[in-house]
Amino acid sequence: MDPIKVLALCGSLRVDSFNKMLMHQAIQLAPKELQFSLGVLDDFPLYNEDVKNSGFPECVDELNKHLVNADAILIVTPEYNYSIPGVLKNAIDWLSRYEPQGFYNKPVAIMGASPGRMGTCRCQYHLRQVMVFLKAWVLNEPEIMISDAPSAFDQQGRLVDKRIEKLIQNQMQNLSKMLRTV
Ligand SMILES: Cc1cc2nc3c(=O)[nH]c(=O)nc-3n(C[C@H](O)[C@H](O)[C@H](O)COP(=O)(O)O)c2cc1C
Repeated sequence: MDPIKVLALCGSLRVDSFNKMLMHQAIQLAPKELQFSLGVLDDFPLYNEDVKNSGFPECVDELNKHLVNADAILIVTPEYNYSIPGVLKNAIDWLSRYEPQGFYNKPVAIMGASPGRMGTCRCQYHLRQVMVFLKAWVLNEPEIMISDAPSAFDQQGRLVDKRIEKLIQNQMQNLSKMLRTV
């Protein structure tokens, strides 16, 4: 089976981020044909049309190269104020201004972890809406919305609940299958 290139984006920049832990778990649990690259959003400036018109910043160009080269995208993100964290939305806004636009027609898997009870669901539905505009194909199921994040991971950042691991495996398998049907 040919390798499938997946760009992984995390909506948290925090070193001890639960969502970074989740992203690394997803990469470990994914089928072998999925080959991941990690998107770096740390140095993205705020979107400014004037800056864009004089040339995309280097870090944005760099991530866009990974996006264009990717067959699929994995987005792992916290929820901020019931929506998409500014860091991630800002990065998507930059990436959406390239022509051709790198999310176009690509499968996208979304997951997230939150200390709260709703497990990032409100953010995920906003993200799905954004992906409609970008004409990407968001995987319908399984949805992965991890609540009570501090209890969900052990000291090494591994998930403690095998049922969540199974869900992640299913989602990653579905991402791979989706690519063969889109
Ligand atoms: C600005 C801000 C807004 C937040 N809003 C929400 C929210 O709407 N829903 C939620 O479940 N958690 C919210 N949180 C808590 C985050 O889920 C929590 O900080 C989480 O650990 C962030 O993800 P990370 O561990 O991957 O960095 C918010 C945190 C911040 C800093």
